Amino acid sequence: MCGIVGYIGFRDAFPILIKGLKRLEYRGYDSAGIALNNGNIKVYKCKGKVSDLESFIGNDDISGHVGMGHTRWATHGVPNDINAHPHKSQNGHFTLIHNGIIENYAELRKKLSNRGYSFKSETDSEVLANLIEYIYLKGNVTPEIAIRLALTKVEGAYGLVIMANKQPDTLFAARKGSPLVIGVGEDEYFLASDATPIVEYTKSVIYLNDNDVAIIKKDELVLKNIKNDTLTPKVQKLDLDIGQIDKNGFDHFMIKEIYEQPKAISDTFRGRVSATHDITLGGLYDILPKLENARRILIIGCGTSWHAGMVGEYLIEELARIPVEVEYASEFRYRKPVIYKDDIVIAISQSGETADTLAAIKMAKEAGTTVLGICNVVGSSIPRETDGGVYTHAGPEIGVASTKAFTAQVTVLTMIAILLGKRRGSIDNYLYKELIDGLISLPNKIEEVLKHNNVIKEISSHIKDAPNCLYLGRGYLFPVALEGALKLKEISYIHAEGYPAAEMKHGPIALIDEKMPVVVIATKDSSYEKIVSNIQEVKARKGVVLAIVTQGDTVIKNMADYVIEIPEIPEQLAALLTVIPLQLLSYHIAIMRGCNVDQPRNLAKSVTVE
Ligand code: AGP
Ligand code: GLU
Repeated sequence: MCGIVGYIGFRDAFPILIKGLKRLEYRGYDSAGIALNNGNIKVYKCKGKVSDLESFIGNDDISGHVGMGHTRWATHGVPNDINAHPHKSQNGHFTLIHNGIIENYAELRKKLSNRGYSFKSETDSEVLANLIEYIYLKGNVTPEIAIRLALTKVEGAYGLVIMANKQPDTLFAARKGSPLVIGVGEDEYFLASDATPIVEYTKSVIYLNDNDVAIIKKDELVLKNIKNDTLTPKVQKLDLDIGQIDKNGFDHFMIKEIYEQPKAISDTFRGRVSATHDITLGGLYDILPKLENARRILIIGCGTSWHAGMVGEYLIEELARIPVEVEYASEFRYRKPVIYKDDIVIAISQSGETADTLAAIKMAKEAGTTVLGICNVVGSSIPRETDGGVYTHAGPEIGVASTKAFTAQVTVLTMIAILLGKRRGSIDNYLYKELIDGLISLPNKIEEVLKHNNVIKEISSHIKDAPNCLYLGRGYLFPVALEGALKLKEISYIHAEGYPAAEMKHGPIALIDEKMPVVVIATKDSSYEKIVSNIQEVKARKGVVLAIVTQGDTVIKNMADYVIEIPEIPEQLAALLTVIPLQLLSYHIAIMRGCNVDQPRNLAKSVTVE
């Protein structure tokens, strides 16, 4: 997904733009560019990394106190120098950078071509630049009016920063469907796709909403909507600090975030779960009666968030006895599902910007349901689209492979399930207290599991060259098997598959031979004896077994080839602990295979395009 930065103020813009683009590199991109305005607008752009852009600029004059930068994640037109952003309009009146998709760009391009406009690039973004100019010249209006009028003709999603040649002291910003944050300084403003490039300069931010247009001078910001209504900017304080977005001595963001999980989980339940066994989830407050009387709960998400939803299904059905269905958002939005008005939808998303999840939410809302969100990015699109929800407080997750967001999401789902079970009287006081105490004990138990990092690294060296890998689990540990397989796939490029252990005999057992590592999550729980049998079935066919077991387990220890022991934990909370070794396993295997752990090939941190 692309990154946007902008600056207007008293400082030199160039260093701020380049540093900001580097902070956004984790979002994934294929090309980069900047525009600087010191009276006339200069554009530098090229395919490749931000460092390639810096080499491309060389020793050119990069002065100017107004500028913008872009990292592109191509949707229209291959990644190359011409399709990179910024894009200038044909006569140079406007220069823009764009995040998102102009869905009606082809129709607009045709109309503009018929009116004498030509195009240098294949992008949808350049069409918008020419549309703005066309309206500006034809209507003889101000740049602001031309921008607002053009945006009323656009279908699709945009996060935009625009420069007008005739107004060098101004930056225009607009947002619909793609995130854009404004940092408010003293006689200076910052723009970015998220807060990470801004936080070192200011913690006062304004999150643009859909259809907002901001007209920004170094000492003045005017906020409107595209219909020209003047709005009051809502300045919020960031609770992010620069240390959170550096690697803090770790080799990669992913390993840093794996190690941050004790804190991510305790931050997520802090203030919500007390030692006196109370649970308060403020974001659900007025929706709780609806939630506890729901006839059905639909959980929607993608990727790892979908796996968290699977754990949520098992938790809510067991503890609260409410029927739950978990749906891939990308399927849900297209398959014409049956949605009842009294359904409750819970949308799970780390970024809060996943296009499929957003679209599924909108569809559920059109059907009249109440939609809740579980998100990790404050002010992102999904929390603004939902009727309520609970933020995970995992802090920024930079590594493409989601780790601490998953355990934070499951923590929220656990609190919801326990709270609903208590209010519905479907769990007894003993289990209620046991689960809360278990939740509170989790950060320390995760610290214990992290101490096995070197053992796991050693085991990784025996698995790293396998062409395929199977992950097996039962009950709460089946979604963990899915998540472990996804981790391995996405960062080491080894084909891996998560499977319910009992399903092995219905096909996958044919895959087992001495070259097939099988990771079995087999901690002590209600199906322990069954999973022991599954391990025996695998061993009988010469499979190589790595088992995640409860501390002190001697039965599996004498069967498996490799064993990782984790502390005792109630089975309802076991997903939160057993996923940790699987995260470390995939991390070490990927490193040993020379893979780019934080920015795996073909992947983006947040999939804001469909
Ligand atoms: C998980 O490691 C992947 N990065 C991916 O599956 C991710 O979980 C998915 O794209 C959903 O993202 P979201 O949680 O930001 O909506
Ligand atoms: N759709 C635009 C393009 O393909 C912007 C893509 C992005 O969000 O980076 O250039």
